Amino acid sequence: MTAKKDQMKKIAAEKAVSYLKSNSIIGLGTGSTVYFALELISKLIADNKLVNIKGIPSSKATEELAVKFNIPLTSLDENPFIDINIDGADEVDSDLYLIKGGGGALLKEKIIAQASKTNIIMVDESKLSNFLGERFYLPVEVFPFAIGSETEFIKKLGMNPKIRIKNNSAFITDQGNYIIDIHCGKIQNVKELSDILHSRAGIAEHGLFIDLTNILVIGKESGAEIKFNKNI
Ligand code: 5RP
Repeated sequence: MTAKKDQMKKIAAEKAVSYLKSNSIIGLGTGSTVYFALELISKLIADNKLVNIKGIPSSKATEELAVKFNIPLTSLDENPFIDINIDGADEVDSDLYLIKGGGGALLKEKIIAQASKTNIIMVDESKLSNFLGERFYLPVEVFPFAIGSETEFIKKLGMNPKIRIKNNSAFITDQGNYIIDIHCGKIQNVKELSDILHSRAGIAEHGLFIDLTNILVIGKESGAEIKFNKNI
């Protein structure tokens, strides 16, 4: 199953990378699908088919991979406008709203997405759903000081918060924060939940990405399917 999924992720990554152009600033997301995209970008650079590009990584993990793959990097300070961003997602609905943050990089991923002229999201077809939350939990990044109070706040909303654990201790983001994975089930009103979570000072950011996908690339066994967002 994983080999099959990886194949679909590779198909999506290959199509997404075909949108990249020389002389541009590229946002680099995080995750296993992005890994395949980085491999392809590296090869295009080595073959002189992609020249004068600079990437802005969304996590330390992606930064390390980009260095390993000889992809030149820059920062948002040096280049506050990104031409095109490629990233993965954990779940996608028919409005092309996303759940992201499975890799814990949602904060920088959202900053990069908001700074990008075009956002391309690459998924295998298992990530598609009718209602966000039906396949994946919702990650939120929480300041350590607020972990107790935000956990209780989420419970009061009737949802089930779980502090993310990795290697027997709390997962710590690149920013030094915690991740709460909210097991919420189908989210009936994505914008409303986004507003509620944004109203909390202890929540640095949540993993709902609304109106931040211009192009969705779905990797399928039969090839790549493209969906363009006509609403943004
Ligand atoms: C990381 C993310 C990833 O894009 C998401 O988890 C998808 O990852 P993968 O491509 O490994 O399935 O949001 O924070």
